[in-house]
Amino acid sequence: MFKCIDLFCGIGGFRIAANQASKDLGIDLKWVFSCDIDSHAQQAYFENFQDYPHGDITKIESKDIPDHDLLFAGFPCQPFSICGDLKGFEDSRGTLFFEIVRVLREKRPASFVLENVKQLVGHNQGKTFKRILEILNEIGYFVDYKVLNGLDFGIPHKRERIFIVGFREPYHFEWPTGKIPMQSLADLLEIKVSDFYYASPKIRQSRLERFEGKLPEPPTIWHENKSGHLSAYPYSCAMRAGASYNYLLVNGERRLTEREMLRLLGFPDSFKIIYGYSIMRKLAGNSIVVPCALSVIKAVLLTLRNPNISSSLNYDVKQLAFL
Ligand SMILES: C[S@@+](CC[C@H](N)C(=O)[O-])C[C@H]1O[C@@H](n2cnc3c(N)ncnc32)[C@H](O)[C@@H]1O
Repeated sequence: MFKCIDLFCGIGGFRIAANQASKDLGIDLKWVFSCDIDSHAQQAYFENFQDYPHGDITKIESKDIPDHDLLFAGFPCQPFSICGDLKGFEDSRGTLFFEIVRVLREKRPASFVLENVKQLVGHNQGKTFKRILEILNEIGYFVDYKVLNGLDFGIPHKRERIFIVGFREPYHFEWPTGKIPMQSLADLLEIKVSDFYYASPKIRQSRLERFEGKLPEPPTIWHENKSGHLSAYPYSCAMRAGASYNYLLVNGERRLTEREMLRLLGFPDSFKIIYGYSIMRKLAGNSIVVPCALSVIKAVLLTLRNPNISSSLNYDVKQLAFL
């Protein structure tokens, strides 16, 4: 049995993935701690896992965090994302990485899985990410990382995220390759959707007028990028917590429903939705593609269960963007 903690837990994407991995592999997990500063995330997590997360990690002493074997953390990404202001470590949210370091240093779990936006790799010509990996090495972890995309894990959602895994021993670790056939949008979209989700006739008309080329066969999701260019795909571009309300429109007409947002993250329909559109949009926009995390966690659990010591597990500095 492995004891787990869920830092920056949000609505529990890591927890759903890890519970599924545990079931698939017959390896028991016990959740001993979770935290998130957002009261909506805390309540949604509680309703779904009957476990009320602690709050601000900066206010929690390490001695109050139970011993554990596995640490999961999708740490706040705004300072590193292309949509944020790119301040990185200068922004106090960027320094929340050091809260993870504090817990790792003091609690010494056997392994961890961290997740963040892909842009973290190239941030500040790669220097931020190199420093992150060095720090994890310095505190005694063998680490590796890979960018995974929801599209490769069966979900029609182009969501590219960096996963960083670490082990206290130099285990041989195999990254999942994905290659899971993509579910079609038609299977994921709801059939009856209330008028609430439809953009105004003015917005729909302006989308139609600005669309260049032949209109695509539905269903598609229309994406408006930062410079106002429209594209339509048989999948969703990355859902973002703080983006404009109409930047993703199903068939150029309507916003995604709360359930569709969760399905685009691979959440099961058994996940309880306790909030309306605006709050769910924030919570889902912050979360992870469950099948990506599931594949990584399975690989981590298999490594811990059948440790094969080799010195191969470590990041390849040559791959870092700035070199
Ligand atoms: C990228 S999201 C992680 C989402 C999560 N992986 C999920 O599946 O929903 C980062 C989370 O960190 C939380 N957060 C930000 N600052 C925090 C702090 N000081 N202490 C605890 N949580 C914090 C945010 O509320 C947000 O839910």
